[in-house]
Amino acid sequence: MVLERVTAPEPDAILRLMRAFADDPRPEKIDLGVGVYRTEAGETPVMRAVKAAERRLWEEEQSKGYVALAGDPAFLDAVRGLTLGDAVEGRRVAAAATPGGTGAVRQALDLVRMTAPGATVWVSAPTWPNHVSILAAIGQPFRAYRYLDAETGALDREGMHADLAQARPGDVVLLHGCCHNPTGVDLAPGDWARAARDCAARGLLPMVDLAYQGFGDGVEADVAGLRSLAAAVPELLLCVSGSKTFGLYRDRVGAVLAVTGDPPARDRVAARLAGLNRQAYAFPPDHGARLVTMILADPALRVEWEAELAAMRARIAGMRRALADALRAETGSDRFGFLADQRGLFSLLGATPDQMDRLRGDHALYAVQDGRINVAGLTPATVAPAARAIAAVLG
Ligand code: LMR
Repeated sequence: MVLERVTAPEPDAILRLMRAFADDPRPEKIDLGVGVYRTEAGETPVMRAVKAAERRLWEEEQSKGYVALAGDPAFLDAVRGLTLGDAVEGRRVAAAATPGGTGAVRQALDLVRMTAPGATVWVSAPTWPNHVSILAAIGQPFRAYRYLDAETGALDREGMHADLAQARPGDVVLLHGCCHNPTGVDLAPGDWARAARDCAARGLLPMVDLAYQGFGDGVEADVAGLRSLAAAVPELLLCVSGSKTFGLYRDRVGAVLAVTGDPPARDRVAARLAGLNRQAYAFPPDHGARLVTMILADPALRVEWEAELAAMRARIAGMRRALADALRAETGSDRFGFLADQRGLFSLLGATPDQMDRLRGDHALYAVQDGRINVAGLTPATVAPAARAIAAVLG
């Protein structure tokens, strides 16, 4: 029997937490686990511009026929404009739509595996666990570079540079475009410039995972580093997610973009990305991608989307400040001051797995075992109990 021999994988830490939270009957429970945006009411809303675009699409769409293996060219152009802007010529960029940002990461890494199976992919320590999981699943070599200075809650600049100095030509350096998951620590402009110099001079291929554009400092500000990198290197891989930026989580909106050396290379990479789609799921999902295209092309929808995204960003920043203030009051120290300085949904508390168990068991506070909290899970009402729980357990 073949299926008898199947072994279950280690459950994903983030997804296991979602289930445990749902099963917890305590009314005071607080969910700072999975990385989704939440309102003050604890909801993950459909954005207003998405609703409006969906209404229009329902009226206008006449066919659900297949689109193209690489997805709708208008969507890919729109995503290229949103992310890369004018940083590189469009004729150098190959692209394919994917099911979500994870699909983009998978296709990008599959492209690396089929082209450069011996290349090492350098990932930040820590990184989103699914990066590591995908790399292990496809059998691509990978190594970690230092990223977070646990003492200061800031970038371990020298550690990162020293580790990446060991990368060999042809290796891949995986960077987070903004709102680093799980640390909330982003590269400063000088770090992007240094990464660009290193990659260009030493023949390293940068790969940028951009899943939180608009959640940090602004739609444009969040890609300034990416654009400076893209303008300075001969080649680059970019993985884009529409889950958070457009709130289209379950519609699985994503794209993989490849900045290539010249148009002939672009054509080969584009054909390969389309082929990878064919082999994995044939055609990528189109519904959410079409909504994104409509929102980015229609001035009124775009204004509405940017305004709502700005409000979401402000709420996240407000919760960061509120939690840092509440923890300052609880602990009488500035030990958690970094929470206000970091960006996006995530920060690391610097807690041990045992402390995370106690937060969950004794205080009904759910966060990932590595100490990651999703700040957007907080509301004005839960900041104080969350701070009390964190202060009680982490001392
Ligand atoms: C997260 O990091 O929580 C999100 O990106 C959701 C996921 O799929 O892990």
